[in-house]
Amino acid sequence: MPLIHWTLPDGSRISDEVADGTNLMDAAQFAGVPGIAGECGGCMSCATCQVVVDPAWIDRVGVACDQERMLLEAATVAPQDRSRLSCQIVAHRALDGLVLHLPA
Ligand code: FES
Repeated sequence: MPLIHWTLPDGSRISDEVADGTNLMDAAQFAGVPGIAGECGGCMSCATCQVVVDPAWIDRVGVACDQERMLLEAATVAPQDRSRLSCQIVAHRALDGLVLHLPA
């Protein structure tokens, strides 16, 4: 199970082991990460699960696809180049130690 770290806007961090195959919006909610509403339940229609992937991890996580990017750009929080919808990132062994940042 990969260990995932969420860094909050105040610099504090929440970390949790996440079962392989779990999307990181569900994982964040389970871990009590604030600011991940996940209003659509992970069907990629709300953009309330935005995270910014740490620069050290973007090659392994990958950037948003076109559909995801369009939704991010319509969100209330302006996306960055490394923004992703956390419901579209699935935990797996290669993501052990992943650092995600919550937008301010
Ligand atoms: S939970 Fe709605 S887009 Fe991710």
